[in-house]
Amino acid sequence: MRGVSDLAATVVAELEAARRRTLTLLEPVPERQLVRQHSELLSPMVWDLAHIANYEDLWLLRALGADGVDATHDGIYDAFVHPRRTRGELAMLDPAGALAYGRSVRDRVLEQLHRRGAEGEGPLLASGYVYGMVVQHEHQHVETLLAALHLLPEGYDGLTSERAPAQRPAGAGAPPAECVVPGGTYVVGTSTDPWSYDNERPAHEVEVAAYAIDGAPVTNGAWADFLTAGGYDRQALWSQRGWAWRQEAGLERPLGWDPDGDGGWLRNRFGRHEPVPADEPVQHVCWYEAEAYCRWVGRRLPTEVEWEVAATCDPQTGEKRRHPWGDGPWRPELANLGNARLGPDPVDAHPAGRSPVGCFAMEGDVWEWTSSGFEAWPGTTAFPYREYSEVFYGGDYRVLRGGSWATSPLASRGTFRNWDHPIRRQIFAGLRTARTL
Ligand code: AVJ
Ligand code: FE
Repeated sequence: MRGVSDLAATVVAELEAARRRTLTLLEPVPERQLVRQHSELLSPMVWDLAHIANYEDLWLLRALGADGVDATHDGIYDAFVHPRRTRGELAMLDPAGALAYGRSVRDRVLEQLHRRGAEGEGPLLASGYVYGMVVQHEHQHVETLLAALHLLPEGYDGLTSERAPAQRPAGAGAPPAECVVPGGTYVVGTSTDPWSYDNERPAHEVEVAAYAIDGAPVTNGAWADFLTAGGYDRQALWSQRGWAWRQEAGLERPLGWDPDGDGGWLRNRFGRHEPVPADEPVQHVCWYEAEAYCRWVGRRLPTEVEWEVAATCDPQTGEKRRHPWGDGPWRPELANLGNARLGPDPVDAHPAGRSPVGCFAMEGDVWEWTSSGFEAWPGTTAFPYREYSEVFYGGDYRVLRGGSWATSPLASRGTFRNWDHPIRRQIFAGLRTARTL
């Protein structure tokens, strides 16, 4: 058993690690880029910065009965009052003000942790839940910040500090073309992971028919073949809604790709134009493009249940794991998480992280679109607020699984559910395909 003070020490370390991650990322970004709204789909980066602070003010101070730092910011930084497209017009704190707000909130939170520990009466403090929620929230917004920085034409100076692409260790096998999952009863979701979100709960059994799923995400090389085959011009490959959107938005290739003038492709990555690496997973494709690609190869997207079973279940033993590699913590060789590299690794780079059925790169590299809409797991309860998950159930969203290279290991696990509109492209999303057996 972990003592109260151990948990408080973990919480302090994780809060500080999240803040270091935020500040390290934004340190090379000039003020004019922080305050500008770069796209209707993204907030100005300074909004995220102050919103992170405001969320902590609300949940770690006021919700726990302490004095908040500044309630006058609540309206401005409430994601529900102000949809992303209007955030550029708000009277926001400037970057120095946002940083100072975050610092004041954090100082009070650390002082409170020192005095009272991270646990206490009531569900918010059981296993330090609310602290885990706030740490994950900051990490999720760092991923949003990375999406904003990724497509900046002016570039990002921090790109020079990334690690090189990982390579498959000598002697390790390559990903299989597909992995077979026998039909049967499997467990999806979790009832025990202490910092899991409401939408991941509870663990429940599902009946699944036999299927096969790709051993690795769809690569840029495969996507280039789809382009060469005229995939974006063949209406028969697209759903009705997908084709309508393809026409309206003028989709012709993944976001950020440009012809290299020689039959190949360049991509914009943090303002740098570089050849598209064939062996990395494709990213910046929307759900409709993913759907058309699947039709082209004669396959389909997996459901999110199929995705989770392939990532976390061992059909031989009936075991359910927290991660594809097991229940142990993440290490760099297991999956590309946490933006040490500012992009995906080649799809064969992490054999040690493969799942029991043999799938590579289920966690990290790119989020993977599934065919599923975002729905409540049976028996779930909204906690601690309806606006994290509940208000999105049944909306026009598709579930994404597995996290990306920009996801923190702290917010990555086999049961984690993400969702977004089917037209969304600036997130770090790709896919793998499946078929019913
Ligand atoms: C779970 C990634 C869809 O970014 O909209 C951030 C997470 N919730 N702040 C989002 C979230 C509140 C959410 N996603
Ligand atoms: Fe948020």
